[in-house]
Amino acid sequence: MKGLITTISFLVLGAFAAIYIGFGFERSEDDYAIDEELDGINEKIVLIFSHVVAENTPKGLAASRFANLVREKTDGWVEVQVFPNGLLYEAQEEFDALKENEVHLIAPALSEVTVHDPNWMIMDMPYLFKDEAMVRAAFDGEVGEILFESLSNQGFHGLTFWDNGFKQFTNNVRPIRKPEDVENLSMRVMPSEALIDTYQYLGASAHVYSFNEVYEILSGGTVDGTENTLSNIFSKGFYRQQEYMTVSNHSYLGYAVLMNESFWDTIPAEHQQSIEEAMKETTEWLRNHSTQLNKEMLKKLEDSEKIVIHELTEEERRAWQEHFAPLYEKYEEQIGNELFEKVRQLEKAS
Ligand code: LMR
Repeated sequence: MKGLITTISFLVLGAFAAIYIGFGFERSEDDYAIDEELDGINEKIVLIFSHVVAENTPKGLAASRFANLVREKTDGWVEVQVFPNGLLYEAQEEFDALKENEVHLIAPALSEVTVHDPNWMIMDMPYLFKDEAMVRAAFDGEVGEILFESLSNQGFHGLTFWDNGFKQFTNNVRPIRKPEDVENLSMRVMPSEALIDTYQYLGASAHVYSFNEVYEILSGGTVDGTENTLSNIFSKGFYRQQEYMTVSNHSYLGYAVLMNESFWDTIPAEHQQSIEEAMKETTEWLRNHSTQLNKEMLKKLEDSEKIVIHELTEEERRAWQEHFAPLYEKYEEQIGNELFEKVRQLEKAS
């Protein structure tokens, strides 16, 4: 009898176990511990990174380095495909392409961003930042936070700021040493109202052309000159089309690395973390190399003997800064004094 009861008990337990495991009980979604952050973790993601400069420049080298780091950190699950030299889009076209998710990463010059958010014109103020340390303090501190916060209202997610370097004057008419030397020159600029205004304030005319048009407009004499960093002047061959270069360091050319805000939110958190780590490491690498890269380019420009180079003295630089005082007042009124006050605090702290 006892044996019979034991047998029946085992049979009943076995039946319940069979039903529970899968033959009968439906386990609702709630029964599984779904780690939403892992959603999509095993789906390959391709990020298209478009930029407009040559590969052997600070931004070009940084983009390639970033792509390699992302591949390593995600074990290949996220692939960044870099398209340099404006192969896909010019700088302003990149913003629309980003919004349409036709590209996923862009790194426009800060001056290009001003078209979408005028607050960014503060970064175009001539001689506002006395050295790279002060610029980086702006990037890393409240100035950078305010600018990225403001831009996120336009649907752009700011990942980081990348460096290039200070801009220099080049032209075909005369050596530029003092502000009046720019009078009546026609100069190519990026599409920033503050840049256009700066040249008009100097008695010159400012003309907006995309980066890939610059070589042609210089060689064809459409404009007398332009401004850019040493790495861009060398890598794009502008020095072969210009008589004079002034190492003025009159304003800083940096980049905002941007993603589409809503696309960023679709990336699994684990991959977002890898991307942010790769971006942080690349930004640090670039800071340690951009100054050196521009110094190397200056040496190549000097050795080329293709362009007459004048380096502003400290006294000449002070004269430019004093000359621009009314421009700072105008833009502090237009942009608001919060950002200018933060920059003044950086100046005092530096
Ligand atoms: C330009 O002058 O348009 C370039 O400086 C752009 C860039 O990305 O460096």
